[in-house]
Amino acid sequence: MEKPSTVIVIFGATGDLAKRKLYPSIYNLYKKGQLSKKFAVVGVARRAWTNEIIRENVSASIKSEVEGDISDLDEFSNHFYYLPFDVTSKSSYHDLDNLINSLEDEYDIQGNRIFYMAMAPEFFGTIALNLKTEGVTNTKGWTRLVIEKPFGHNYDSAKKLNDEIREAFTEDEIYRIDHYLGKEMVQNIEVIRFANAIFEPLWNNRYISNVQITSSETLGVEDRGGYYENSGALRDMVQNHMLQMVSLLAMDPPIRLTTDEIRSEKIKVLRALRTIKGDKVEKYFVRGQYGPGKINNNEVPGYRSEDKVNPDSNTETFVAGKLMIDNHRWAGVPFYIRTGKRMKEKSTKIVIQFKELPMNLYYKNKETLHSNLLIIHIQPDEGISLTLNGKKLGPTGGTVPVRLDYRNDGIDGFNTPEAYERLLYDCMLGDATNFAHWDELDLSWNFIDAISEVWEKKSKKEPFLYPSGTMGPNESEDLLQENGHKWWPITKYELE
Ligand code: BG6
Repeated sequence: MEKPSTVIVIFGATGDLAKRKLYPSIYNLYKKGQLSKKFAVVGVARRAWTNEIIRENVSASIKSEVEGDISDLDEFSNHFYYLPFDVTSKSSYHDLDNLINSLEDEYDIQGNRIFYMAMAPEFFGTIALNLKTEGVTNTKGWTRLVIEKPFGHNYDSAKKLNDEIREAFTEDEIYRIDHYLGKEMVQNIEVIRFANAIFEPLWNNRYISNVQITSSETLGVEDRGGYYENSGALRDMVQNHMLQMVSLLAMDPPIRLTTDEIRSEKIKVLRALRTIKGDKVEKYFVRGQYGPGKINNNEVPGYRSEDKVNPDSNTETFVAGKLMIDNHRWAGVPFYIRTGKRMKEKSTKIVIQFKELPMNLYYKNKETLHSNLLIIHIQPDEGISLTLNGKKLGPTGGTVPVRLDYRNDGIDGFNTPEAYERLLYDCMLGDATNFAHWDELDLSWNFIDAISEVWEKKSKKEPFLYPSGTMGPNESEDLLQENGHKWWPITKYELE
């Protein structure tokens, strides 16, 4: 197993993301032996923390997030260092460079540096540029920049940010995180499609009727009201995670499994994605906002009563959309997407519905005939199921729906920390396949801007309210009815 030795610099080391995801992920890599013992982490942020304080915080976050034996925690957290930092002051960068140089000597690290941006996005550009001009990127090893979302608020701001970071880093050195690309079953989409003779020949508009991607959450906006008011579900989930899943499901087989080839196929899908603008937005997209309701039998407030949310807010916490991919493979096949907060269940699932047979000999058993569905369970359970029609047991015959189910074993709950773990490891290895390329952002932001333009500037309609704990507004059903489709139920084993 390759074990890269590196210094990881985390901008925003006192923040929530670092504590909840990054520290536990680095620890898990350490524990699994995927991280060389020659590593050091430098946390930087505004606060006046010290090495001792960051080590205490790292330990606390691992104790709360990681299960199992953590007896090597002290040894691990001693690799952490802290530097109080002012992102606009040159001297901060000089101090950082000096500290990294001394750690490289101490741990015998050959100049490999990862700069992880896990702080307010308005500073990403400034930091990147200063790292370059002040010589922090000037090393004898490699340098990589990892950038968290949000990568811009729309096309213009994303482009501006990209131009800024490109002044300091090449495209190959930039790793734009989309943590969905680190999820086990999202990575499995390619394998299911391209390693099985039974799917790829059917993977087109001759045999597939529609594709449905649902990513529902039970959480509300929690303490992120300020960010979310400015973002909404369209920017928060659709621009990145949902469109990434669409690309992976719809792309043509790459000629080989290299980063460039895979990215190039995904980019072609986004190029073929039909722009939804003007009057079409109301027809193809539904936006909703959660009202008060019940989650797991507990009363929860509506979005407009959340902290840091405008009491008249029209921000959407739910989006459902019908996407069309105008290419040879997918012409006429709707890709339905749906995502929202405070919904009935925490679940991400992809349903591929196959077309009916041109003539079915069992048509007289119509009520029991079931559409063939391939379901990819992304989370919380991970696996694949396939619904088929079988013979009803016994002498009278007839059909009965059956479901072949496979579940990955040993899954420890939602796999987000694991997603970060993989992505960090990929970054250390220099594998950018599961990160977003600028061309994908360019196309996806243009797609999103056309919709948000209507919602934010032209539409007089408010988002449809849905009670917390439901599957969103009823209007999202209407989206599918036009083509005679319906959302398949989200429950675990139900065939309906
Ligand atoms: C993030 C969004 O990108 O994804 C959050 O900013 C959302 O609002 C989260 O809750 C969902 O991720 P997961 O892994 O829990 O499905």
